[in-house]
Amino acid sequence: MLTDKFGRKINYLRLAVTDRCNLRCFYCMPETGNNWLNRSELLSWEEMLRLCSVMVGMGISKIRITGGEPFVRKDIIPFLAELSALNGLDELTITTNGVVTAPLVPELKRLGIRSVNLSLDTLDRQRFVDITHRDELDKVLETMYTLIAHDIKVKINAVVMEGKNIQDIAPLVALTKDLPVSMRFIEEMPFNGGAQHYATLAWDHMRILQEIKQHYPTLQKITDPANSTSYNYQVPGHKGDVGIIAAYTRSFCGTCNRIRLTPQGTLKTCLYDNGGTNLKDLLRNGATDVAVQAAIVHAVSGKAKDGHEAERATHPDGVHESMAMIGG
Ligand code: 5AD
Ligand code: SF4
Repeated sequence: MLTDKFGRKINYLRLAVTDRCNLRCFYCMPETGNNWLNRSELLSWEEMLRLCSVMVGMGISKIRITGGEPFVRKDIIPFLAELSALNGLDELTITTNGVVTAPLVPELKRLGIRSVNLSLDTLDRQRFVDITHRDELDKVLETMYTLIAHDIKVKINAVVMEGKNIQDIAPLVALTKDLPVSMRFIEEMPFNGGAQHYATLAWDHMRILQEIKQHYPTLQKITDPANSTSYNYQVPGHKGDVGIIAAYTRSFCGTCNRIRLTPQGTLKTCLYDNGGTNLKDLLRNGATDVAVQAAIVHAVSGKAKDGHEAERATHPDGVHESMAMIGG
């Protein structure tokens, strides 16, 4: 079992398979001028599979595929098929923006994927364009309905942004009335590719909660699952539920069980960790599995107590990376 020096068991890997995306959400990356990685800088599918297999052997039992947008990388389905067959991996999940995902849902179902996170910040077509710089709302909604029809659990992620989608909070909660979805509102984090740094946050979890309660005064607290990053609620009588993720406030670090692998093969033990361990070079220099394991154990032993500590250590002037480079 992988354990850090605070006794936290690390059993969850977030694997970003590409830095590229078919949307340009303004909170994640600039509209133009993105310097995409070359193919040779990315881990190959074989390299990713080897690292995942080593990590599963070390106690990683859950892997979430992220990006960028995972489904813009060629041949992801055969990779998912191999990954899902790894012995010891209990849960394989995916975060997608849903633009090209709907036709692939039956295949995901066949691979045994039981839960998918869908990024969706608004139900209004024009605001979707304002936020993502692409006119793709219909395809995202089609993905949502297709996932539900295939009985795959859907969590919807909406980043809450002053001046952008506050008027969408109530309609997004309304989705949970008849649909069995978990609607999660996320505090905006400063990972937008360098455009802005926030000293304070306009919409923190308390303010988001108050906004929801204004529209749904009967909102009730429900139990938070272990290692949950969200505070969870439900409107009585609704099929789905509602969560608030204090991503900026970072109130969940104490129970963090996760590590991250970036598209270029850097192991990060915290979202706010600037450096990381270069596993790609290790692999390409012919390291044995034992040497790779040792590097992972060493990295995990240096995992910061929380995101504030990691940020102070490595980003004294604030974070400038794009979320698409770290994997959300
Ligand atoms: N702040 C908060 N969440 C973000 N995401 C991307 N960038 C940010 C940010 N700056 C989230 C999106 C998406 C997931 C991949 O990461 O909601 O669902
Ligand atoms: Fe793409 Fe997700 Fe970033 Fe939006 S948040 S640009 S969908 S990677």
